[in-house]
Amino acid sequence: MIKYNSINVGFQGKMVLEDINLTIEDGESVAVVGKSGSGKTVLVKCLEKLINPASGEIEINKRRLSQMNKNEIKEIRKKFAMLFQNAGLFDSMNVFQNVAFPLVEHRNLPENEISRIVTEKLLQVGLFGIEGKMPSELSGGMRKRVGIARALVMEPELIIYDEPTTGLDPVIGMEIINLIKKMQKSYKMTSIIISHDLECVKRTAERVIMIHDKKKHFDGSLDSFLNSDDQEVKNFIGVYKNA
Ligand SMILES: Nc1ncnc2c1ncn2[C@@H]1O[C@H](COP(=O)(O)OP(=O)(O)OP(=O)(O)O)[C@@H](O)[C@H]1O
Ligand SMILES: [Mg+2]
Repeated sequence: MIKYNSINVGFQGKMVLEDINLTIEDGESVAVVGKSGSGKTVLVKCLEKLINPASGEIEINKRRLSQMNKNEIKEIRKKFAMLFQNAGLFDSMNVFQNVAFPLVEHRNLPENEISRIVTEKLLQVGLFGIEGKMPSELSGGMRKRVGIARALVMEPELIIYDEPTTGLDPVIGMEIINLIKKMQKSYKMTSIIISHDLECVKRTAERVIMIHDKKKHFDGSLDSFLNSDDQEVKNFIGVYKNA
């Protein structure tokens, strides 16, 4: 279980998030929505201590993040996979090396075992025979898949997808959405999906959190989000309905 208690985050004295209180239970699928620059990515980066809040406390399984030592933080980063907006692949490494990277870094495994896991995870995301390709040779959708495969090799408890469908055409976007759903089903892992894409939110999340004006503006079931009378929620839904 993840708990944000009165989290405030600012940069150079300018507040980005104020008084965020939030609980995410194990196995939940939660979408985080909000305008560009509203602090969605910052919100999830706090969870892995990539950004430190100015005040407040994050608890992970009842343990305070601020009191964890380096090794414990490392463990958290292994358990919580984060798929960055641009898929975050290393340009100088081929697909195999990218997917194998967390294993090489964190696990002491023989080469043939690493090779087996990499091939298995690539197959799970629908990729086959592209181990030798460089990221620059891949389409945006393929890069996202490789990013997901790389996240999966560590068998994470939680996976954070930051804009998984942004920049993809609708057909490829739908493939990524289906892949996220498949991951939710087969691994029962907790997922946090940051998205501008209403279709993606509708299909992957059971609960929606909206960040607006530095605050948690909305937090409720997908149904209550879609039927909300709140003007900001309606604006969000309206914009994407007509897009
Ligand atoms: N490391 C940083 N240093 C200074 N300012 C930052 C840093 N990271 C984020 N910010 C600022 O915090 C605000 C929120 O950024 P964030 O990336 O969380 O927005 P977002 O909601 O994810 O937007 P988008 O939808 O465009 O990805 C922005 O004003 C951004 O400039
Ligand atoms: Mg972002």
